[in-house]
Amino acid sequence: MQFSIKAVAAILAAITNIASVSAEGATAPEDSAVVKLTEATFKDFIANNPYVLAEFFAPWCGHCKKLGPEFASAADSLVETNPDIKLAQIDCTEDRDLCAQFDIRGYPTLKVFKGEAAPPSDYAGQRQSDSIINYMVKLTLPAVQVFDDTAVLEKTVEALAEPLVLQVLPEGVEKSSSNETFYQVADKLRESFTFGTTSDPKYVAEYAKSAKKPAYVIFRNGEDAEDASVYKGKDIDEESELLIDFIDVESKPLFGEITGATYQSYTSANIPLAYYFYSTAEERDAADPFIKKLARKYRGEINFVGLDASQFGMHAQNLNMKEEFPLFVVHDLEGNKKYGIDQSTPLDNNAIAQFVQKFKAGKLEPIVKSEPIPEVQNSTVYHLVGAEHEKVVKSGKDVFVKYYAPWCGHCKRLAPIYEELADLYEGKDVVIAEIDHTLNDVESVDIKGYPTLVLFPADGSEPIYYEDARSLEAMANFIKESGSLKIDALVDEEDEEEVKETAAAETISETTEKAETTAPAAEADAHDEL
Ligand SMILES: *[C@@H]1O[C@H](CO)[C@@H](O)[C@H](O)[C@H]1NC(C)=O
Ligand SMILES: *[C@@H]1O[C@H](CO)[C@@H](O)[C@H](O)[C@H]1NC(C)=O
Repeated sequence: MQFSIKAVAAILAAITNIASVSAEGATAPEDSAVVKLTEATFKDFIANNPYVLAEFFAPWCGHCKKLGPEFASAADSLVETNPDIKLAQIDCTEDRDLCAQFDIRGYPTLKVFKGEAAPPSDYAGQRQSDSIINYMVKLTLPAVQVFDDTAVLEKTVEALAEPLVLQVLPEGVEKSSSNETFYQVADKLRESFTFGTTSDPKYVAEYAKSAKKPAYVIFRNGEDAEDASVYKGKDIDEESELLIDFIDVESKPLFGEITGATYQSYTSANIPLAYYFYSTAEERDAADPFIKKLARKYRGEINFVGLDASQFGMHAQNLNMKEEFPLFVVHDLEGNKKYGIDQSTPLDNNAIAQFVQKFKAGKLEPIVKSEPIPEVQNSTVYHLVGAEHEKVVKSGKDVFVKYYAPWCGHCKRLAPIYEELADLYEGKDVVIAEIDHTLNDVESVDIKGYPTLVLFPADGSEPIYYEDARSLEAMANFIKESGSLKIDALVDEEDEEEVKETAAAETISETTEKAETTAPAAEADAHDEL
């Protein structure tokens, strides 16, 4: 599952970035507030400034050029408002040793230094000027803002740049353990959310219904205060996970937007993701009221998002849909199953509502991507396809499957050994199979790299991932030891010794290639290579 998240996030990030690389320079202009640091000045500067955001960069790097003007503009604005915060640049083509010392592996890398005592942390914000400013200013503030004044709180709620998680404490509530938990969670998640606490009577009356217990409310940026989410679970006391899960689910907008920046947060929420692919802003606006209504109904069960097909339309393929828009598709992330509305008729609201209802009721069939089932098997290696996968791995035989991608070099090197392995089991109750994972969806296996080798024991017990050497002998031994039929193919060989030797000679590196099925060439991060 994870492979596709990473690959898709990479595609989305890459598209976003390439689309808008500016022609301006990576190096801040002489007259900007960005401080140029070198090996000679670095240490003292960090020691003498409480908050430093340092950009390690190379002048030629495209992402650095894009960041450059944003970084300089943030520095210029901070010098006025928060002189304690400094933005600095280190040119890694000039100060190689300094960059090596911080293990810089891609450009640009942004690190936050809070004095010289603590090690730096990675900057985890967006790369726009506003985001940089917000991120750095927040570091200087307490993790939780105390709101004593109704007007200030109301103004904050109206003009949020990110979700606000508010603790509403009725006067006299003595429970300090949940307050401590709230502060701990705030400290942990302060980079992505604003945290506040209040005992304001108006808010207490509105949200802390029981008047004995604290309430937790999430106000989302860009939405009306009436749409705020109120925590209804059990006391958080010392169970910070309860609050974290609540924030994870409820901080998302009712009808959010999928981009390179948001994709990860949606997939980590791990509830089904319902996509509306649109081609124009008008199309999205028209769908907005209806989708929000649905989203309110299925809050916490399904996340609803829009996706701009003019930019990211090709993502439809990952969801087993055709690139014809608008379209509606639900991705059940946990089982990696995709459910799409039939694209042969125009999309309408009723169809969407009914579809989601059926999805919740478990009455839909997923769209399984699959090659056609071969009419004849022409090799001892069984050519498996998505449509047949579940049937074959549960066929009452020990089934050993190789999940591969056509472009993967390690897979190609394994191929001849794998054929030999299949020959060994001809006529026995062991199936040696392979499946091209780029053309076929599979359930019940977690594929993080290619090739992945998995044994499905004949007795139907849990599949076992093969991690050992990719030699004939090692694989055959594994099938004997771990298979439920305990079939030993090697003893039957007349020339066992010879087999062993060939096997040893052909043992290959156990490295697995990254499973970036959808885009082997996409960058994993918005970094240029060193
Ligand atoms: C909540 O915890 C914080 C941090 O420990 C503390 O400063 C604050 O006084 C506590 N508030 C209440 C009402 O107990
Ligand atoms: C085996 O069949 C597949 C189609 O199922 C075909 O693509 C392939 O070329 C055949 N291989 C041989 C060796 O005949």
